[in-house]
Amino acid sequence: MLGIIGAMEEEVEQLKAAMDVKKEETKAGMHFFCGTLEGLPVTIVRSGIGKVNAAVCTQILVDDFKAEKILNTGIAGSLDAAIDIADVVIATDVLHHDMDATGFGYPKGQIPRMETLSFEADKDMARIAQEACETAVPEIGVHSGRIVSGDQFVSDKEVKAGIVENFAGKCTEMEGAAIGQAAWLNKIPFAVIRTISDKADDSASVDYPAFEKKAIANSVKIVKEFCRKMA
Ligand code: ADE
Repeated sequence: MLGIIGAMEEEVEQLKAAMDVKKEETKAGMHFFCGTLEGLPVTIVRSGIGKVNAAVCTQILVDDFKAEKILNTGIAGSLDAAIDIADVVIATDVLHHDMDATGFGYPKGQIPRMETLSFEADKDMARIAQEACETAVPEIGVHSGRIVSGDQFVSDKEVKAGIVENFAGKCTEMEGAAIGQAAWLNKIPFAVIRTISDKADDSASVDYPAFEKKAIANSVKIVKEFCRKMA
């Protein structure tokens, strides 16, 4: 079973509408919808915003719904001038840009006593995500690279510059690294697909609402195609 964690309410609504729902359950205030999407057994849920919500949600998917793989979708702010609004980024790996134990000699972003700086996404799932984008939204630019996460909506060019300098991420959001870490702890594969909604700078809070609808429509198309290919 594939666990799908969406970020936006309307995105999850549309996916749920396209799904053959067999069971619904609420846990930790999160609504889980189990069934099939494009022939693939899935559980769809909206985690809510931020890393704690995302980690709790992932663990519930694993423990209570027996998720064997996790797909996370949503929007993100671009960290690379070559990645424009409406483009898609597929994670190679995810990292916490707001983790800082440099005082203990760890590199920025690394969690003390964990063996890895970033959490690597599953290569097969990332390849299927890439193919799904090419089929579902051929007009859109698709990029592959590191996605960084923090409990922070980045909307300041100096904050953005610091994140770019430290981590070489392609885009920034607020859940991916928590989902990647939780998947890593549970030894299950994961993928993150994000549509760029803003440039994570001083224009971010203006661009974000304007772009949300389009991002949702594209994301729904990509997830359906991803499931079709996985089935
Ligand atoms: N999600 C979408 N845009 C974002 C940004 N600029 N920072 C953090 N999360 C985001």
